[in-house]
Formats: sequence, C-alpha cells, structure tokens
Amino acid sequence: MSIMTTGEELKNLRESILEQMPPETRFTEQDARTMQQYRMLFLSLADQLVTGFYDMLYQHHQTRQIFTEDERPQREITLKQWWQRVCYGPFDDHFWDWMTFVGLVHVVRGVNNPMMISAWGFVSEKVMEKARASLPPERVYELQGAMIRFGQTFSALISESYLKNYLEMIAGATGTDEKLVELLVKMGRQDFKGQIPGLKKDLDLAHH
Ligand code: HEM
Repeated sequence: MSIMTTGEELKNLRESILEQMPPETRFTEQDARTMQQYRMLFLSLADQLVTGFYDMLYQHHQTRQIFTEDERPQREITLKQWWQRVCYGPFDDHFWDWMTFVGLVHVVRGVNNPMMISAWGFVSEKVMEKARASLPPERVYELQGAMIRFGQTFSALISESYLKNYLEMIAGATGTDEKLVELLVKMGRQDFKGQIPGLKKDLDLAHH
C-alpha cells in the first residue's frame, strides 16, 4: 500500500492548493507583518490557548476518541511549537509545507476537517477577544483580516491535503492508482448529476 509520502509530492500539493485560491484570499507578506506586530498579544495567550484547546477536545465525545489517554503532554508540546511559529514566523514555504504535511498526519490519526476547522475557530476567537479588549478598533480590523486569511490559507492546505491523502490511501488499499480514482469520480459525476433534481426536491430547494 502506498500513500503520498515524499516531500516533493507534498510541496507540489502545497503549490497546487495555494494556486486554487484567488490571491486576495491568501495570507500575504503584509498579513505576516501585522501578525508579528501583535506578537506580544499572541504570546500572552499561549498557555491559556493550549490548555483550553485540549480541555475542549478531551471533553467532547468525538474529538476525545482521537487521543490515547497518556498522549496529552505530547500534544500540548506540538501545539506550543505551532503557536511559537505563529508568533515568530517565518510564514515561508517551509511553514506551508508543514501545514500540508499536517493533512497527511490528520488522515493517519483520523482527525477529520470539521474537527480541525472548529478547533481553529476556538483559537481565532480567543485571539480576537483579546484584541477587542486591548486594541483600538482600526487595529482590531487589521488583525482580523490577517487572521482570516491566515486561517483560510492553512485550513485550505490541511483540508485539501487530507482529502488528497485520503483518496491516495483508498487507491493504495484497493490496488488502484490515483488517476483511476479520479477517473471513477469523473464517471460518477454523471450519476450524481442525475440525482440533483430529486435531492433538491427532498430538501425543498427546488425553487433555487
Ligand atoms: C487549528 C487546528 C489544528 C492545527 C493547526 C493542527 C496542527 C497540527 C500539527 C502542527 C501537528 C504536528 C504535525 C507534525 O508532526 O509536525 C498535528 C498533529 C496532530 N494533530 Fe492536529 N491540528 C489541529 C487540529 C487538531 C484537532 C482538532 C485534533 C484532534 C481532534 C488534532 C489532533 C492531532 C493529532 C492526534 C496529531 C498527530 C500527532 C502524532 O501522532 O504525531 N489536531 N496537528
């Protein structure tokens, strides 16, 4: 069984994912400068974020199942390292490659995208709460824009990498290859197309 494991393939995947995003929606150099400007604010949240993040994930029945009982200290270290990188940068290709790699790690550990996206919602909300309490409104808006582009850029990488590696895993496990899986999806599109009117009716969306 083979999965997408080479660094080269993950780099290509990172490039192809970012390319799909219109440039104005991607994290920019200016956004990086904005985030670095509020480094002290980000740093001051580190301990409370890490504790809150895992309290939340260990309390919820679905996310708790991802972890082993004795894993929390190690997971906290990983999140602290990630947060350090968010505080200090750099947000270079190496960082975005890391986020693409996380998509693969998450497939391996069964961390699906709703879990990842909602966990980011938790983090960004805490940052913005603190920003609203300590910065003038125009600074809050500036930071908010940077945080939104940061979140959508890294979650596009993690989630699309998750999907690609998930498909790759199916291809490997069934002895097919990625191209064949893509072809099967293309063929399936016609069947799906035929189902759309019925589904719209079922969901009372027929007027759209
Ligand atoms: C903001 C959302 C998230 C981010 C940015 C994130 C980031 C990361 C990073 C950086 C790694 C380490 C990859 C490496 O080895 O270098 C990782 C691994 C991992 N994450 Fe996430 N993660 C997120 C959400 C979650 C959630 C919601 C869960 C569980 C419900 C989770 C569970 C894990 C697990 C179990 C590992 C693998 C650890 C291992 O086996 O080495 N993550 N994640």
